[in-house]
Amino acid sequence: MNILVIGSGGREHTFCWKIAQSPKCENLYAAPGNAGTAQTATNLQIDINDFKAIRKVVINHKIKMVIVGPEAPLVNGIKDFFQSDQELSKVSIIGPGRNSAKLEGSKSFAKEFMNRHNIPTAKHSEFTSSSIEQAYDFLKTMPPPYVLKADGLAAGKGVLIINDIDQAKLELKSMLIDKKFGEASDKVVIEEFLEGVELSCFVLTDGKTGITFPMAKDYKRIGEEDKGLNTGGMGAVSPVPFASKDFIKKINDRIIKPTLLGLENENLNYQGFIFIGLINVGGEPKVIEYNVRMGDPETEVVIPRIKNDLVSLFEATSNQSLKEKILDID
Ligand code: AMP
Ligand code: GLY
Repeated sequence: MNILVIGSGGREHTFCWKIAQSPKCENLYAAPGNAGTAQTATNLQIDINDFKAIRKVVINHKIKMVIVGPEAPLVNGIKDFFQSDQELSKVSIIGPGRNSAKLEGSKSFAKEFMNRHNIPTAKHSEFTSSSIEQAYDFLKTMPPPYVLKADGLAAGKGVLIINDIDQAKLELKSMLIDKKFGEASDKVVIEEFLEGVELSCFVLTDGKTGITFPMAKDYKRIGEEDKGLNTGGMGAVSPVPFASKDFIKKINDRIIKPTLLGLENENLNYQGFIFIGLINVGGEPKVIEYNVRMGDPETEVVIPRIKNDLVSLFEATSNQSLKEKILDID
């Protein structure tokens, strides 16, 4: 089978490295890829959001499976684009459709989903430019630090954590009125600050069954002593030393199971990775965010621990037979 990996990060390098080891993989492509993917795949210089260009290479290279690394093409509806095209509708896409990708594409959608399914998360409220006065009043009712989140995608920069209330009001104004993050901050979610250590949990689902991959922890702040600004992730480890059996059971019972059930009950027909960003608040797991893809850099420490043939797992994801698979973890 010919396979295409979309993206250009360490995540995509890892996917290519692993997929190239599969006896099921004939020709492997990455778009646009990077120096790492070039070691095992052919890089194709394509914009990841140019679906017509992707269509062309998928047809030309007889590609039968596409793994979507980053969130933007998923939120922009790459899966829906493939499904509505006669020539592409049989190609397996690993990643959810536009409706489910809102779990990452809209913080407000994700919070409402969690509330509907009783999934533990920080308390929140949401505001637009017309309710900015209410937002100021809401801030006054909360203890610092203040957590402000642009509703839409903002390249990992849309979350601000601010200690001073006047500064928080200024930032809120700049998000809602001055469009600091463009349309992404037309709506802002303000939420309770949660104190604890974070970890990342990854589930591969075919829409019915979910397989939980090993947990990982990424380290976001740049510079020594964790004092710099947040980045997408400076590095990662797996296993996570503090993720005890007990804690993982809580994650499974209170978060993973209701998330999968919620997706199924809402007919979101999800086929791909769900990345659940968690925080350990005094021994209780709470969800910080959902992502609709694998983490970068977490993939670099998670995928090498999977002994299974990844392409077989992806095939089972597409044809909804993940139930038959057992993960073999190093
Ligand atoms: P997000 O994009 O929602 O993952 O947020 C980016 C980062 O902001 C997270 O990885 C956390 O470090 C931090 N963060 C987000 N929400 C909260 C919260 N409610 N309490 C504390 N930290 C948070
Ligand atoms: N490392 C965090 C992310 O992929 O969003």
